[in-house]
Amino acid sequence: MINHKEKIKNKKVLVTGGAGFVGHNLVKTLVNDYNCKVIVVDDLSNSSEAMLSEVADKIEFHKISVCDKRKLFPLFKDINYIFHLACKQISSSGLEPNIHLRINAESTLNMLEYIRHNNLPELKRFIYTGSTSIYGSSVKLPVNENDAPDVLSNYAATKLLGENYTTMYCRNYDIPISVVRYSNVYGYGQSPRNPYAGVLGKFIHNALTGKPLKIFGDGEQTRDYTFIDDAVSATILAAVHPRAYGDIFNVGTTVETSVKKLVKIISDIVGNVTVENVPERDIDNIRRRSIDISKIHKNLGWSPKFGIERGIKETIDWYKKTL
Ligand SMILES: NC(=O)c1ccc[n+]([C@@H]2O[C@H](COP(=O)([O-])OP(=O)(O)OC[C@H]3O[C@@H](n4cnc5c(N)ncnc54)[C@H](O)[C@@H]3O)[C@@H](O)[C@H]2O)c1
Repeated sequence: MINHKEKIKNKKVLVTGGAGFVGHNLVKTLVNDYNCKVIVVDDLSNSSEAMLSEVADKIEFHKISVCDKRKLFPLFKDINYIFHLACKQISSSGLEPNIHLRINAESTLNMLEYIRHNNLPELKRFIYTGSTSIYGSSVKLPVNENDAPDVLSNYAATKLLGENYTTMYCRNYDIPISVVRYSNVYGYGQSPRNPYAGVLGKFIHNALTGKPLKIFGDGEQTRDYTFIDDAVSATILAAVHPRAYGDIFNVGTTVETSVKKLVKIISDIVGNVTVENVPERDIDNIRRRSIDISKIHKNLGWSPKFGIERGIKETIDWYKKTL
């Protein structure tokens, strides 16, 4: 069987948002497991350079915005793979819609335009990290890539726009692209101090520091949680696999887990935890989510290795070492 991921070995790779939660885990894997020469672009608006300290002497780091075309595009020279992860998070979605548009979508368009009009013979793939939040409150579960989007936030609107530009530039201008649509990624390196950390990051941090776990609404809302190692491996595979060219892939587990179940799993591991029930926020407008992953399984041979219990256990172990 061909090990497609070997193709990225020793390659020159650019990662935007590479100091963020998913980004710094991706960068570490690219450096440590694939010996890539990695250039990281991040304005550190939602992260810290310390996230990359383990590989600091092996990467090139640029504290710049993806909107700064003058500084960004010279870095594209001789690049083999571009992973575009920089984004504004869903939790600030209603507050700064124009900033979401600029960073999540317009920066993507700018990069694709640059690639279209400049000769980049070494570029093998531009990978856009989309979000399953574009499926909104789909009544059909699990949702697959062909199901209609149901956009319920500025974040989802701009992530879908970025994705649409990406696939359209492949169709119209033959730019080599792949899109992965992540579903609620969690795991080590999700900074507990980050106000935009996902629910699991906050829950685990609070459980270990004796603070209450805040449940918004009734706690019956479900999500499909993806462990970070699985998200990173799917992303690299989507970058190198010939059958991922020009295509979009859900990345998740298909397993629905309620917020109440998360609390139960965490308290079984950590011991007694306290819970605080608070009213729903306007971004909590998605009731259930389960992601169909049969396409990435069939076409790329990928499936998740971590179930929710094991993923949470790994994450708690990491937090205990780190806190
Ligand atoms: N984490 C998830 O559950 C999840 C789910 C679906 C999709 N995604 C997508 O995955 C990608 C990574 O998400 P994450 O969870 O690591 O987010 P994150 O907020 O941890 O990382 C994003 C990074 O982008 C940086 N950034 C923000 N604006 C920037 C700008 N203008 N220029 C340069 N850098 C900038 C931030 O400083 C941060 O380091 C995003 O595209 C996101 O939409 C994540």
